[in-house]
Amino acid sequence: MAKKDKILMWDETVFRDPEVFELDYVPETFIHRDSQVQSLKYVVQPAMRGMRPLNALCLGAPATGKTTAIIKIFEEIEKHTDSVATVYINCQLNSTRYVVFSQIFQKLFGYAPPSSGVSFKKIFNEIAKHLIDKGTAMVIALDDINYLFHDNEANEVLYSLLRAHEEHPGVKLGVIGVLSDVGVAYNFDQRVNSIFLPEEIHFPLYSRKEIREILKNRTQIGFYPGVMDDDVLEMIASRVEAAGDLRVGVDALKRAGLNAEMRASKKISADDVKKAAEKSSQVHMRQAVQALSDNEKLILRLMAENKGEALRAGDLYEKFKADSKLGYTVFHEMLNKLDSIRIINTDFTGKGDRGRSRKVSLRYDAKEILKLLGR
Ligand SMILES: Nc1ncnc2c1ncn2[C@@H]1O[C@H](COP(=O)(O)OP(=O)(O)OP(=O)(O)O)[C@@H](O)[C@H]1O
Ligand SMILES: [Mg+2]
Repeated sequence: MAKKDKILMWDETVFRDPEVFELDYVPETFIHRDSQVQSLKYVVQPAMRGMRPLNALCLGAPATGKTTAIIKIFEEIEKHTDSVATVYINCQLNSTRYVVFSQIFQKLFGYAPPSSGVSFKKIFNEIAKHLIDKGTAMVIALDDINYLFHDNEANEVLYSLLRAHEEHPGVKLGVIGVLSDVGVAYNFDQRVNSIFLPEEIHFPLYSRKEIREILKNRTQIGFYPGVMDDDVLEMIASRVEAAGDLRVGVDALKRAGLNAEMRASKKISADDVKKAAEKSSQVHMRQAVQALSDNEKLILRLMAENKGEALRAGDLYEKFKADSKLGYTVFHEMLNKLDSIRIINTDFTGKGDRGRSRKVSLRYDAKEILKLLGR
């Protein structure tokens, strides 16, 4: 029978386990992060023995395994004891103090607090009472805490959490902050600095060899044997190293697999990888842009319409104001955020005047950004 369409039959696929190429997949084997995992254990260990856990700050570039390390540790704690509650909070999605505490409440009680009419203080009291009554210690991970830096929420959240044991004696609570460190110094306010003395846990970039091993591991679980040869994998490893972002590699594996299937092939070719690589290199940008507010997207749109070229912040603001009516301070905060999540570059030469004269430019191709924003 002649093959009419050059496509694999539905039951033929290169993917043995497609899940492993999704970005939220938690890998079974987590290699090259032993010392970081050890440090995290050290930090949470006191809680396992009925003491107050230490606080920590995980620092490292994107895709260096910070989130994965926390999830792994939390899984282990939950497996071994009922006397330590773990709460994982993604600050990108939960970016105010009220929402953060609602999440903590939900984890402890199994249902959400009323969404209105209850003060933050009341929620906090309930949480503290529950912990004391049950004798439970708690470790809270605030992942991507940079998303809380806007509007001072990070300081409010940390201050409340770190002082919990003073307001509610008997509460044993530790905080693990996670900061995608992109060269911008983190700045908590004085009140927080005086009580937040975290163990700093650094997550360095993976070397080429480490990248190769991590990706190889994933292809072995995710693809059928023989689908991907080492030299093709090496092409991906080299692109990952250049991009400094492991996610690019995981995404490229998935796309390359799909490309091979499109050609009705059970083997991924160098060409499948090349085709995949361009899209995959934008994986960070796509994830980050989708999570932005309308006004933040407006800033990006205006920059992209200027072909992404460097603009003075003050000039950009004039355009922005025409559409949004927001004040300069809010705009300035939004620029800082876009810089901190590495969507734009800002140079800090023009310091005075809240940086009106500093130059801002896009880190990604303007056309791709416009496409993503739906134009
Ligand atoms: N050591 C490792 N072994 C296997 N997979 C890894 C390892 N480190 C990272 N990954 C994978 O790379 C991707 C990014 O990892 P993770 O989300 O933990 O990074 P992150 O440091 O939290 O990044 P970000 O700062 O952007 O949030 C995930 O898909 C994860 O499974
Ligand atoms: Mg993360």
